[in-house]
Amino acid sequence: MNKKMIAVLGCSALAASMFSMTAMAEELTTVGYAQVGHESDWRTANTQNYQDVFSNENGYELSFVDCDNDHQAQLEAVRNFINQELDYIIIAPIQSAGWDTVLQEAQDAGIPVIIADREIEADASMYDAWVGTAPKDEGVTAGNWLAEYLDGAEANILVIEGSVGASAALGRSEGFNQVAEEHEEWTILDSQSGDFTQAGGQEVMESYIKSYEGQFNVVVCQNDNEAYGAMDAMDAAGITYGVDGDVVLISYDATHDGLQYTLDGKINCDVECNPIQAEIVKGVIEQMEAGEEYPETTLVEDEAFVAPGIESEYATTMTQEILDGRAY
Ligand code: AHR
Repeated sequence: MNKKMIAVLGCSALAASMFSMTAMAEELTTVGYAQVGHESDWRTANTQNYQDVFSNENGYELSFVDCDNDHQAQLEAVRNFINQELDYIIIAPIQSAGWDTVLQEAQDAGIPVIIADREIEADASMYDAWVGTAPKDEGVTAGNWLAEYLDGAEANILVIEGSVGASAALGRSEGFNQVAEEHEEWTILDSQSGDFTQAGGQEVMESYIKSYEGQFNVVVCQNDNEAYGAMDAMDAAGITYGVDGDVVLISYDATHDGLQYTLDGKINCDVECNPIQAEIVKGVIEQMEAGEEYPETTLVEDEAFVAPGIESEYATTMTQEILDGRAY
């Protein structure tokens, strides 16, 4: 295993006066993180979490690459980590397909790989551990909550999906559609990608308003930033949403601002996807380092939140206290 040695020079007042210096050698574990990009508040919180946890003070040297939602750039980042012979590689995969070759290269180089945040299509034997959330379950939660809330009423639904090919988008669609299939009174009018961005959410919603104005009563945005964009588009068109509006608005992530809108009654239901995952990944690496048994898969638990005035079997009703406790 390649360890990077750095020399930390310590010099006490007494030692300095005696012209002697003490050199302490500190061994850092080198870790590469191939991050998806910076498309959302969720992603910013996830990046900050990794930078805080994999710090020099904690014994790590983190090579962080923002892959800007470009799959080829992400493959190149992983190959660079392999060439640098880092101790561990963490990948938050932009898309779920297309990983076999580079994972084989990491395996051949003997570098453990941890897949984080999202899922990939490769066989589990191609990587060492997975830590992430369950987007299909999140989609099912959103669907179950909607069914409970509408209680048999008709739903004409517009979906703004996340990035094409991302497991977070595929899973949320699959879970939600599974519930939708059980409701013949629901129609999904359209489902298009907003790239998990505010600008993308706004653009898709503006085009939906042109095509479907007056025909929809539910909008599902697959993350908070898309929801902010969709809200801007509906505000501009004079369409009301949220608990007192004509349109039921569902979002995912439950970041601080998303929960603020939920507390304000603008988002009806926000299904959580927890970005604080680095400490768990670090725990897995520590177990690997110590040669101990480590969990091959770790699911980061999520919950869902609904606006005040809504009681749900599937979600917690928002309060100021919950918001005050949300750091990201
Ligand atoms: O993979 C998690 C998703 O990616 C989050 O829902 C979204 O905000 C992000 O960019």
